[in-house]
Amino acid sequence: MSERLEDIAAAMVRDGQGILAADESSGTIKKRFDQIGLESTEDARRDYREMMFRADEAMKNYISGVILYDETIRQKAADGTPLVDLLKAADAVPGIKVDMGAKPLALQSGEKVTEGLDGLRERLNEYYKLGARFAKWRAVIEISASTPSHNAIHANAHALARYAALCQEAGIVPIVEPEVLMDGPEASHTIERCFDVTKWTLNSVFDELYYANVSLEGMILKPNMVIAGQKCPTQAPAEQVAEMTLTCLKQCVPSAVPGIAFLSGGQSDEDATKHLSLMNAQGGLPWKLTFSYGRALQQAALKVWGGKTENVAAAQRAFTHRAKMNSLAALGTWSDAAERAAA
Ligand code: 13P
Repeated sequence: MSERLEDIAAAMVRDGQGILAADESSGTIKKRFDQIGLESTEDARRDYREMMFRADEAMKNYISGVILYDETIRQKAADGTPLVDLLKAADAVPGIKVDMGAKPLALQSGEKVTEGLDGLRERLNEYYKLGARFAKWRAVIEISASTPSHNAIHANAHALARYAALCQEAGIVPIVEPEVLMDGPEASHTIERCFDVTKWTLNSVFDELYYANVSLEGMILKPNMVIAGQKCPTQAPAEQVAEMTLTCLKQCVPSAVPGIAFLSGGQSDEDATKHLSLMNAQGGLPWKLTFSYGRALQQAALKVWGGKTENVAAAQRAFTHRAKMNSLAALGTWSDAAERAAA
């Protein structure tokens, strides 16, 4: 494969394919395993990820890249094959989560800033040697009556830009992920409020990327969709989510950015698919629009798997189904009928 940033980015958002976010930190994967009553051991985490990476139909046809966690990029499958080699064999680009998590922002009550810049240059060089060709850094912005503050948006946007520049210096495509959370504490967290905060955040992020000399052609944006908060009594219909998300992105994201790969952020599996499909059905967009889902790609498969070897094939079918539905969504051709027919 070509090593130019632009070509790696283009491969990550190629037609009808998207990214599997399998980069849950040790704390997050433990929470996922708690749901199925499974202890989070190194072998269990390996078995779970190997189940997905060996789902050949899904990996070859619908998944362009996989975001890994530090442990996983170094791990070997049960038969000794490095997990990274399974991805390469399926023509999926290996990626790596490099942020160290969201930490309390000093003197800014309740808000967070993502850390991990110290030593990042050296870590990126090591990850490159381990096979990573893209990376991810997630910033979180919470909506409440009194937040976000300018300080939180600015600090997070600045860190994202410094991270992105370090990635490009190392020959790695940065996924720039500023997530405006949908699980804020307020009933007043309407879709309009999400629109305003997302627009503010994206404008700030692209300002900082500009000042940091980041090449827009060699990055992927991973944003939230514009959607009402989970506690908001008025939930917008899917058509409105699609329309307001596209309006926001068109106002903020330069057309030099090759692709936008959404996070699912707590949406139901089907909502995440439907919203993406409605946006792509509009056509004529300046960038590729696809998925970089964690929960919305994995939830169903995780439940079917349940930590048991005898369930691997069924779990792979569940994973393949979701991947296929999201592939259709990336093409703008998903339908309720396709969902039921395949299920
Ligand atoms: P979700 O799709 O579960 O939000 O996860 C995507 C991700 O990578 C969050 O950083």
